[in-house]
Amino acid sequence: MSYLEKQSITDIDVSGKKVLVRVDFNVPIKDGVIKDDTRIAAAVPTINYLLQHGAGVILMSHLGRPKGQVKPELTLAPVAARLSEILDMPVEFSQDCIGSEAENAAASLDCGKVLLLENLRFHPEEEKNDPEFACALASLADIYVNDAFGAAHRSHASTEGVARYIPAVGGLLIAKEIKALGMAISEPVRPYIAIIGGAKISDKILVIENLIKKVDKLLIGGGMANTFLAASGYNMQKSLVEEERLSWARELLATEEAKNKLLLPVDLVVADRFAPDAEHKVCTPDYIPEGWMSLDIGPKTAELFAEAVKNAGTIVWNGPLGVFEMDAFANGTMAMAGALADSAAFTIIGGGDSIAAVHKAGVADKIDHISTGGGASLEFLQGKILPGIAALADK
Ligand code: 3PG
Repeated sequence: MSYLEKQSITDIDVSGKKVLVRVDFNVPIKDGVIKDDTRIAAAVPTINYLLQHGAGVILMSHLGRPKGQVKPELTLAPVAARLSEILDMPVEFSQDCIGSEAENAAASLDCGKVLLLENLRFHPEEEKNDPEFACALASLADIYVNDAFGAAHRSHASTEGVARYIPAVGGLLIAKEIKALGMAISEPVRPYIAIIGGAKISDKILVIENLIKKVDKLLIGGGMANTFLAASGYNMQKSLVEEERLSWARELLATEEAKNKLLLPVDLVVADRFAPDAEHKVCTPDYIPEGWMSLDIGPKTAELFAEAVKNAGTIVWNGPLGVFEMDAFANGTMAMAGALADSAAFTIIGGGDSIAAVHKAGVADKIDHISTGGGASLEFLQGKILPGIAALADK
């Protein structure tokens, strides 16, 4: 399957049609307040395109993981309010995504108007990709558009099942993501450097195995570097180490590819406990004080990594290099964000934490492509076929 051969909204006539659009409005919300509206803003080009071309727009999304139950704190109502501000027009809200309220709201929706349905995952059938549920969603509209890149790696009723019942095409965000990330997997300008951080190796084993074959250098930081350092023989003391991944890490380190391409931290910021005000200092991995833990890459590593990306042609970054939410352990991640911003390479960032980090560093506008997908961008970069895109009609 070639992603570029999938139909998009620009290939079809939407005028006078009701269009059901799967968006990824899975945004951080605390006490009803949206903490980051990047994903809402990212859906706006598709919504505006459809409105300008005479369609009635029915939006659907998941929010969080309510596991098939109605959880009031995971309602999409605050998103409807925020979207209405962004679009500067009313956004109708249906308190269920199927059933009579959704059906009536969809049936009476005029062209040029927007309706948002309540959290899809309040129904267990969504994640089970239940055909009846998918059919009930499809019955609300004439055309289905998937613009939820962040959820395209899920084979759920709203991302995959629904495409079997009505004509299904991709939205503008999906097209933009495929173009940027597709370049990194098919024809990256070299040197091609990947930086992988975050807490756990287990989440990223496949991406590491796959990327190391494609990149010229793979830089590893964050909690997951601890397991590699432990596998290299260092006593990481109280640092987070995934014991069950040690043998995998040892095997990888023994390969020619790893010897030529993998860069691990050469120094660390270690702390006596996991707290913002912990006592901390810089040391090499062989001198971590007893009972201390590594919470960031050290300044020499930050320099080494900055040097590695300096003349890159393409850089992909996913996952922070330290506990950047705590200022004392944010330097490595901030330095990396700065190095990417200064680089002339085509820069791609994915994953909520890395996005938050470039915002914190104030350099988000200097990154070429900020992917709205965390898991989805990683699966895409591994070369996996995303079911939410595979389900769309071919050109
Ligand atoms: C994400 O936040 O990565 C997407 O919205 C997918 O959410 P999920 O991992 O709960 O399916």
